[in-house]
Amino acid sequence: MIQFKNIVKKYKTKTVIQRFSLDIDSGQLVVFIGPSGCGKTTLLKMINQLIQPTSGQILVNGTDISTMNPIELRRNIGYVIQNTGLFPHMTIKENLELIPKLKGEGPAEIEKKTFELLEIVGLDPKEFLDRYPKELSGGQQQRVGVARAFSTNSDIILMDEPFSALDPVTRTSLQDELYQMQRELNKTIVFVTHDMDEAIKIADKICILKDGDIVQYDTPENILKNPANDFVSDFIGKRRVWNNPELLLAEDIMISNPVKIHANRNILQAIEIMKDNKVDSLMVTDKTNRLIGMVTLKSIQLFNRNASIEEVMERNVLSVSNETNLLSVLAIMNEHKIGYVPVVNSMNQLAGLITRSSILSALSSQLIEMEVAF
Ligand SMILES: Nc1ncnc2c1ncn2[C@@H]1O[C@H](COP(=O)(O)OP(=O)(O)OP(=O)(O)O)[C@@H](O)[C@H]1O
Ligand SMILES: [Mg+2]
Repeated sequence: MIQFKNIVKKYKTKTVIQRFSLDIDSGQLVVFIGPSGCGKTTLLKMINQLIQPTSGQILVNGTDISTMNPIELRRNIGYVIQNTGLFPHMTIKENLELIPKLKGEGPAEIEKKTFELLEIVGLDPKEFLDRYPKELSGGQQQRVGVARAFSTNSDIILMDEPFSALDPVTRTSLQDELYQMQRELNKTIVFVTHDMDEAIKIADKICILKDGDIVQYDTPENILKNPANDFVSDFIGKRRVWNNPELLLAEDIMISNPVKIHANRNILQAIEIMKDNKVDSLMVTDKTNRLIGMVTLKSIQLFNRNASIEEVMERNVLSVSNETNLLSVLAIMNEHKIGYVPVVNSMNQLAGLITRSSILSALSSQLIEMEVAF
């Protein structure tokens, strides 16, 4: 775990970081994003002591890094800078083995790891091991840069705009590889970028920065759905939810107060409730608001008016959880040819109802936001 505690950084009189506090959990990929000059690189370099804070502390797994030997610390933290920082006079193999050798790892172990890392980043070791950096394309060099950061066996890897110089295709494939590697190797990665699409694609959490301060720190989903302020909305662009329908969940598109009835009421009462609310179906709930069935006007008209709802209700009601996304909801409604579907929480309590018109109104409100924004 990496903890920033009340970090302040001043250059002469200019304060570039103002009381910055942030916790980064182990095994997470956290992205720092924000306008040029907001302090991303400064914060990143503080983690491996390339920059010292003016005041405040950084703890790595509970230890204040200012008490550690900086050289030792850096050997244990992978670091990828924009231009890869490969040593031009060393082969790819030598570049990758440098830090493990300095750390005194055994030759056989180092060789095996170098080989594996190149394979992971999609470079054929037989072809590339003995080449020099200048004999590789920019994208291939960046892959080696990523492999080298992972070669340190460290739990923490810092990446400062590592893919910014790449063409979109190479960039996408390296993003995918990084995502997979992080999942497999369970590293803690702090990744700086200018690119919100990149952040959304790879991050567990995104930290949006402005003038050395945190504007929002949350999962990509939450940032897209609930931007903290106009700065964040502008930064992510209003169209994103519209472009990512999987981010709209049942709870965002449902009516949250569906008309319902308790199972112990009778048919006459049900018909009255339907008339009052101008609906032709009711969700049936028990005392604890759990969904236990439903009735439609058509199905209950045939019965004696005194019959209890419990006796006549349809018990096999299809429902979705409040976290089901829009695409799955639509698929379920299409597959079962139904015009509405109740939404329940994890305890099967009725949370809402999705109808064709609730979907339309949720989508059109997104559309209106978009039109206002552009
Ligand atoms: N050595 C220095 N002396 C004075 N000011 C500095 C120094 N290094 C950085 N700064 C200032 O600190 C601020 C933060 O710089 P930093 O490099 O962290 O920005 P950044 O968010 O990484 O920007 P970019 O996206 O352009 O890389 C900037 O205003 C920069 O001018
Ligand atoms: Mg920078």
